[in-house]
Amino acid sequence: MKLIQSVSSLRDFLSEVRANGQTVGLVPTMGALHAGHESLVRRSVSENDVTVVSVFLNPTQFNDPKDLERYPRTLEADCELLATAGADVVFAPTVAEVYPEPDTRTFSYPPTDSVMEGAFRPGHFNGVCQVVSKLFNFVMPDRAYFGEKDYQQIAVIRRMVADLGFKLTIVPCPVIREESGLAMSSRNTLLTDAERQTAAAIYQTLKESVTYAKSHGVEETRQWVVDTINAVEGLEVQYYNIVDGDSLADVTTWDAAPHIVGCVTVFCGSTPIRLIDHIRYV
Ligand code: PAF
Repeated sequence: MKLIQSVSSLRDFLSEVRANGQTVGLVPTMGALHAGHESLVRRSVSENDVTVVSVFLNPTQFNDPKDLERYPRTLEADCELLATAGADVVFAPTVAEVYPEPDTRTFSYPPTDSVMEGAFRPGHFNGVCQVVSKLFNFVMPDRAYFGEKDYQQIAVIRRMVADLGFKLTIVPCPVIREESGLAMSSRNTLLTDAERQTAAAIYQTLKESVTYAKSHGVEETRQWVVDTINAVEGLEVQYYNIVDGDSLADVTTWDAAPHIVGCVTVFCGSTPIRLIDHIRYV
C-alpha cells in the first residue's frame, strides 16, 4: 500500500494505472476509520483493480470549529486498517495541497442540501461538494463509495455528479452497526460507554416506528419517534423528518413517493455529541 500526499504524485501513479486499462475505486474519508469504512474499502477492492482511499479532514465542511477541533485524528491506525482491507493507495494530503487557494465555489442543490443537516449546519454540504468535486478531479475514479449512514450526503453528491457531469458511478453502501444497533460513526469514540448504550435507543426506536407506521399517518409517526427518543434520559432529538428518499422533501402520506425515509439527528450525552441515523419506511 502506497501513502501519497501530493496531488501530482497521485496523478502520476493513476495515469500509469489507467494506461494499463485498470479501473479505479475511490473511498473518500476523513480518517478515524472504523468497520463501516472498512466495508466500503472491501467493496471497492472487490469491484476495482485499484482502490484509492482519501484520508482528509476537510475544514470547509465544518460549520462548528469545536466539532473540527475534537474530530479524532488517527492516521497511523487508519493506515493499518486500510492495509488489512486491501487498499492500494492512501491519499492523505495537507489542507494547502487540497486548497492552494481558498475555495470560493458555491453549490446549491435544494431541497437535498437545504433541509435537515443543510438547515442545521449551514455551509456543510457546500464544503462537502467542494472537497468531493476536487477528489473526483484528482482521482477520476470509475466508482466512488459512500456509506448510507450519511443518507443526505449521498443525495447531495448524486445531484452534484449529475450537475457537473462527472463520469463515474456512486456506490451507496449499507450502514454498519455496533452490536447494540448504533450506527458506526467516527464520532462514537467521543461517547462514554454509558452514552453509547443510551444511544442504542435511537435505532431501536426507528426500527419500532416501522411497525407503528403501519397503522399511523406520517405526522403521527414522526411525532412518536421524537417523543420516544426524547423520553430517554441523555438523548434529545434535533429533528426528525420523514422525506421522499430521493429529493428529501417532506412527505405527508405514505404513498407520496416511491421511497420514503425517516432521517434523525439526536444530541447524546453531556458534551453533547450529534448522532445521525435513518430508516426506510417504503
Ligand atoms: O462522509 C465523510 O466522511 C465526508 O463528508 C467526506 C465524503 C469524506 C468528504 O469530506
